[in-house]
Amino acid sequence: MATMSDKPVVLITGASSGIGDTTARKFAAGGFNIVAVARRQERLEQLARELADTARVEILAADVADPQTPGRATGLAIEAFGRLDCLVNNAGAGTWAPVGETTDEMMDEVIDVSLKAPFRFCREVLPHMQPGSSIINVGSVFGSVGGLDGGIYCAVKAGLVGLTQTMAAQYGAEGIRTNLVAPGVIRTDMTDAAWDVPAFQRINHEMTPFDREGTTEDVANAIFFLASHQGSYINGQTIALDGGWSTTKYLCREALLCERNPLAGETPG
Ligand SMILES: NC(=O)c1ccc[n+]([C@@H]2O[C@H](COP(=O)([O-])OP(=O)(O)OC[C@H]3O[C@@H](n4cnc5c(N)ncnc54)[C@H](OP(=O)(O)O)[C@@H]3O)[C@@H](O)[C@H]2O)c1
Repeated sequence: MATMSDKPVVLITGASSGIGDTTARKFAAGGFNIVAVARRQERLEQLARELADTARVEILAADVADPQTPGRATGLAIEAFGRLDCLVNNAGAGTWAPVGETTDEMMDEVIDVSLKAPFRFCREVLPHMQPGSSIINVGSVFGSVGGLDGGIYCAVKAGLVGLTQTMAAQYGAEGIRTNLVAPGVIRTDMTDAAWDVPAFQRINHEMTPFDREGTTEDVANAIFFLASHQGSYINGQTIALDGGWSTTKYLCREALLCERNPLAGETPG
């Protein structure tokens, strides 16, 4: 084992793009060393190069669905840094299809990547975590409210809430907190194609009280807060990052006044 790192250490899955990439940059700026896991090695190498002045980044190019990957990644953290203070279970893939059109293969892929892998990562890191450590799972608002066309993705993200709450109960007494962030629709590689569809953009805008899109920084900030001392009494929670989309019945003024709305022209009470 290496000399123990002076800095705290975070293991982030899915660090090669989107929310995971931004989260790695946030933790680096916040004084952490990093273990970054994803399949695309060149993206991870680029991240490590770009962060070289602020953090030491160890990379593992691997499929999180491989049952060996959580153990390898945890081993790398301990080997390189001698400690592991935070796990961000972020890697995910979004097969988006109605239940009736979901094959067993589609089901297995999402479960393997987005539920079994986070479960295994939790199991692997726990023996190395000291009081004050924390785990943040990346779920989705679609795990709480369901979604049109969302079958196995919604089911798996709801499963992560159960895992989070159970971990909070089982390991809270040891000083290890577990929480979940549930992004709304954030522009990343995963959602890029959908954002190009005007109706998709319009619906998100009309149903979100905040007059702007959510960003990967919004999600990374919340993850970092939950991992930090400022979040040290938060355990077992789901924090939605959606500008109020999932918890309100908000419709913007344009939507309320459109011709199809029976309330058009009236002031809502
Ligand atoms: N964007 C949104 O609107 C949104 C909303 C709610 C929740 N989320 C959740 O946020 C998380 C991050 O997604 P994102 O939006 O940032 O999308 P993204 O840019 O496509 O990032 C997904 C990340 O997961 C990694 N990944 C996927 N499958 C993997 C596998 N089998 N093994 C290893 N790594 C894998 C990808 O890396 P490689 O391809 O290099 O392996 C990539 O780094 C996901 O869990 C997603 O469900 C996103």
